[in-house]
Amino acid sequence: MSLSATSPAFGSFYPSRSHRAMPRFTMAVRSRELTATPILTKLQKDCATPLPLLRHVADAMASDMRAGLSADGGSDLKMILSYVDSLPSGNEKGLFYALDLGGTNFRVLRVQLGGKEERVIATEFEQVSIPQDFMFGTSEKLFDFIASGLAKFAQNEGGKFHLPSGRIREIGFTFSFPVKQTSIDSGILIKWTKGFAVSGTAGRDVVACLNEAMERQGLDMRVSALVNDSVGTLAGARYWDDDVMVAVILGTGTNACYVERLAAIPKLQGQMSSTGETIINTEWGAFSNGLPLTVYDREMDNASINPGEQIFEKTISGMYLGEIVRRVLLKMAEDSDLFGASVPAKLAAPHVLRTPDICAMQQDNSDDLQAVGSILYNVAGVESNLRARSIVVEVCDTIVQRGGRLAGAGIVGILQKMEEDSKGLIFGKRTVVAMDGGLYENYPQYREYLQGAVTDLLGTDISNNVIIEHSKDGSGIGAALLAASNSKYEHDY
Ligand code: BGC
Repeated sequence: MSLSATSPAFGSFYPSRSHRAMPRFTMAVRSRELTATPILTKLQKDCATPLPLLRHVADAMASDMRAGLSADGGSDLKMILSYVDSLPSGNEKGLFYALDLGGTNFRVLRVQLGGKEERVIATEFEQVSIPQDFMFGTSEKLFDFIASGLAKFAQNEGGKFHLPSGRIREIGFTFSFPVKQTSIDSGILIKWTKGFAVSGTAGRDVVACLNEAMERQGLDMRVSALVNDSVGTLAGARYWDDDVMVAVILGTGTNACYVERLAAIPKLQGQMSSTGETIINTEWGAFSNGLPLTVYDREMDNASINPGEQIFEKTISGMYLGEIVRRVLLKMAEDSDLFGASVPAKLAAPHVLRTPDICAMQQDNSDDLQAVGSILYNVAGVESNLRARSIVVEVCDTIVQRGGRLAGAGIVGILQKMEEDSKGLIFGKRTVVAMDGGLYENYPQYREYLQGAVTDLLGTDISNNVIIEHSKDGSGIGAALLAASNSKYEHDY
């Protein structure tokens, strides 16, 4: 296992490019010369996100949220109860751990919290990349790998980190897949997403899976809070800013959670919490209503390990944007002379073009689009002229614009639902949406399209009150904070 203390790289959450070393050769050869322009024009038309379409998406998001709150299975949106009824206050104190599993890396973190005065005294983390075969292996194998990474990390505690004697180390476990929570520290995995296909976990309590693996490692730690990454981000951001009401993840996958009033959750049937509020994990990746989808989306979905599922995620998140672009370019190469007379064989390999590649191509401002040319050459093995490179950039922009604007419409849908219920408490004052994930963090055009859609939908006055703010790696600290507030030991916060 490789342990490294680097921060998560943009590319690290994406399927690895196993076809890089393929020899350069070509598939079909065409005799006719045809332009790619009609394919581009049709793509732009099919991916268009004019204001009425965005409005429909925002409204549908709001009404699907209501349906999911009314009954389990009431809509595409699961609207999962997080059992987090109170967010961090700033008073949290002590040493806590966080374990974060959600992509092709997992992270372990420890934090020493010092209460209102000292806040975060120290943090340390390590990131471990998960070998691909563990993502397709057995549950035991995956959890053993994670528990052994955690055990190694826990051994090196020292310096500013201090656990009072007689206490067990407590963990906030961020598990970024759809889980039906059964309490703050237990929950059943509904299904894997983001390309994971581990056998034997779906239908099981993931905390029990981790506890069993920790026992096998002889590791005496306790999970005090099981949280989704969106919930961890909300908690982490709220620790610094009381106006944070929504958190959104835009990385390999996507999700959103928000603060909901118990009275607005019919499926709760009278359950109470001291605050009258709770965090709802929407699992909005499963949303599908009214999306402008293309033949490339449908074909990608059919070829995925979860066809028909996570359609919003497949349209807007980092695992898929590069792949959609690749499918368009392949079609252009097959039906036109975009890359010369033949179809580059490497371009036919699924996921060979990744979202960080299309992002890098879009940052190329040179006259001859040289960086675009070298990425196309390195990734797809093709020589391109300036005309081909400009078309490629336009394809990237079309897919990224659609993704960013739809994400923005999703955010407005959530805010709109909250505003309708609270009459002015959301749009009438400063409201913060905490954002995290490599796609949001590293793709400037995506961020601009997202913000543009929010402003288009809300108008300038209201959107000035809605602050969309990056909360970097807040989910790890957030999970540790939730472990603190759910600690089994006496505390006064
Ligand atoms: C999962 C969510 C998660 C999101 C972002 C989705 O695939 O279903 O639970 O929050 O990815 O990591």
